[in-house]
Amino acid sequence: MADYDVIVIGGGPGGYVCAIRCAQLGLKTACVEGRETLGGTCLNVGCIPSKAMLHASELYHEAHTNFDAMGLEGAKPKVNLSKMLEYKASTVKTNTSGIEFLFKKNKVDWLKGWGKIDGAGKVTVGKETHTAKNIVIATGSEASSLPGIEVDEKRIVTSTGALELGSVPKKMVVIGAGVIGLEMGSVYARLGSEVTVVEFLDHITPGMDAEVTRAFQKMLTKQGLNFILGAAVQGVEALKTKLKVTYKLRKDDSEATLDADVVLVATGRKPYTDGLGLEGAGVEMAERGMLKTDAHLQTNVPGIWALGDVVAGPMLAHKAEDEGMAVAERIAGQAGHVNYGVIPGVIYTTPEVATVGKTEEQLKEEGRAYKVGKFPFMGNARAKSYFLGDGFVKLLADAQTDRILGAHIIGPMAGDLIHEICVGMEFGAAAEDIARTCHAHPTFSEAVREAALACGDGAIHA
Ligand code: FAD
Ligand code: NAI
Repeated sequence: MADYDVIVIGGGPGGYVCAIRCAQLGLKTACVEGRETLGGTCLNVGCIPSKAMLHASELYHEAHTNFDAMGLEGAKPKVNLSKMLEYKASTVKTNTSGIEFLFKKNKVDWLKGWGKIDGAGKVTVGKETHTAKNIVIATGSEASSLPGIEVDEKRIVTSTGALELGSVPKKMVVIGAGVIGLEMGSVYARLGSEVTVVEFLDHITPGMDAEVTRAFQKMLTKQGLNFILGAAVQGVEALKTKLKVTYKLRKDDSEATLDADVVLVATGRKPYTDGLGLEGAGVEMAERGMLKTDAHLQTNVPGIWALGDVVAGPMLAHKAEDEGMAVAERIAGQAGHVNYGVIPGVIYTTPEVATVGKTEEQLKEEGRAYKVGKFPFMGNARAKSYFLGDGFVKLLADAQTDRILGAHIIGPMAGDLIHEICVGMEFGAAAEDIARTCHAHPTFSEAVREAALACGDGAIHA
C-alpha cells in the first residue's frame, strides 16, 4: 500500500491547487515544499508582492497628479520605502498562511523540505522516503540571466531583489521590456527613479497585438520611462559607486554604455528542476529545460505528471492553476482539460494591458478573414471622469460568423474586463452576443460592449 494516492512536489499555484483539488476528489494527498512558506514564486516573490508595490506606487502617483484637480488639497505623501516593504511583506504573509490554512482544511499533508524522486512512486524528503501512486512535478521556474552579468540581488537584481531594494535608486536600468521589466520599471519610475529599459527586439512586450504595443510604449514614455530598443546588452560592470551597462545597437553594431545605481535583469525565466532526480527516474526533457508531457500533462513515466512553469505554455499563475485542477481530475479518473486558446494575459501597469486569443498579426498570418471592433476609453463616461481615458478595447471577430477570436484591452481595469470576453469565448460567443447584453452604466465594461457594437453596425459613443 502506498502512503499517498498523490504526492505533489512544489507548493506554488500549480502545485497547491492540484493538491487541494486532489484532496477534494477523495485522494490521499501530500505536497512537498522546500520554502518556508507555501504559495511558490507567485505568492512569495512574484504576482502578489509585485502587485502590492504597483498598488502603493499607483496611489502615490495619483495623489501627486490628480488630487488637486478633484479638490483634494493638502500635503502630498512622501515615500517611506521600508514601510512600503512592510506592507508588501504583510500582504505576502496573509496569502501564504492562507494556503497553509487551506491545506489543513482539505487535509493535505505538507511535507516540509526539498523533494527528490527516487524511482517511480517514491519521493524522498530529507531522510524520509514516502510512496505514492502518482507524483506531480510542479517545481516552477527561476530567473534566467545573461552571460557577462553577475546577479548579486543588491545592485544587479532579478525581480526578487527588485522587490527588496533598500532605497529608491536614482538611476535604474531594466534589461528586457517584457512583463517584469515594465511592471517593476513602472513601480520605480513612479517612486522617483530615472528608468531606462533596454530591449533586444525593436518593440516592447513580444507576442502582444502590435497596435496595443505601440500605444502602450507611448503611454509609458509619457510616464517618464525611457526605451532603448533593438539593443543587445553585452554586460554590466560593477564599479565602486555605480554600474556600467554596455549594449550594442543591432542596426549598426555600435556600442554604447549607460550608468545605473541598480540594474534589473528581466530577460525571462527558465524551468526549475534542480536536484529532482529526473534522470534517475527516467523522465524525458523537452527543449529549454522544460519537461515533456502528453496532452494530459503526464510525462513519459506513467504516474509521473508535470504542470505549471516547468512545462510548455505561458509562465502564468492562472495557467498553472488550471493545469493543477486538470491533472487532479485526470488522476481521479475524470476528464480534466485546459483550453489553452482562452488563457488571458495581463500586465498590471497603469493603464493595465490585457489580452486573450489571437492577435491581429496572428490572424493575418493564418490568412483568416476577420473584422475589428475598437472603442476608445475616451468615449467611456466613467473612465473620463476618473482621468483614465487613455487606451482602447479592441475586439477581433470572424468576418463571416462574427465569432470572437481575440480581444486586446489597454486601459482601466483591463485585467478584469478581459474576463467577459474569456467567458464569451469559452461559450463560442459572437461579438453580437456581447453587444446585445445589457451593461450597467456607468461602468468601464461599457467600453467592451461598444467595441462589440463596433464589430457590427457601429459603436454609439464614438
Ligand atoms: P512556482 O510558483 O514557481 O512554485 C514552485 C514551487 O516549488 C516553489 O515554491 C519552489 O520552492 C518549490 N520547489 C521547487 N523544487 C522543489 C523540490 N525539489 N522540492 C520541494 N519544493 C520544490 N503570473 C501571473 O499569472 N500573474 C502575475 O501577476 C505574475 N506576476 C509575477 C511577478 C513576478 C515578479 C514573477 C517572478 C512572476 C510572476 N508571475 C505572474 C508568474 C507566476 O509567478 C508563475 O507563473 C507561477 O508562480 C508558476 O506557478 P508554479 O506552481 O508552476 O511554480
Ligand atoms: P519576458 O519573456 O516577458 O520578457 C523578457 C524580455 O527580455 C523580452 O522582451 C526579450 O526580448 C528581452 N531580452 C532578452 N534578452 C535580452 C537582452 N540580451 N538584452 C535586452 N533584452 C533582452 O520575461 P520576464 O519579464 O522576465 O517575465 C518572466 C515571466 O514571468 C514571463 O513569462 C511572464 O509571463 C511572467 N510574469 C507574468 C506577469 C503577469 O502576468 N502580470 C508579471 C511578471 C512576470
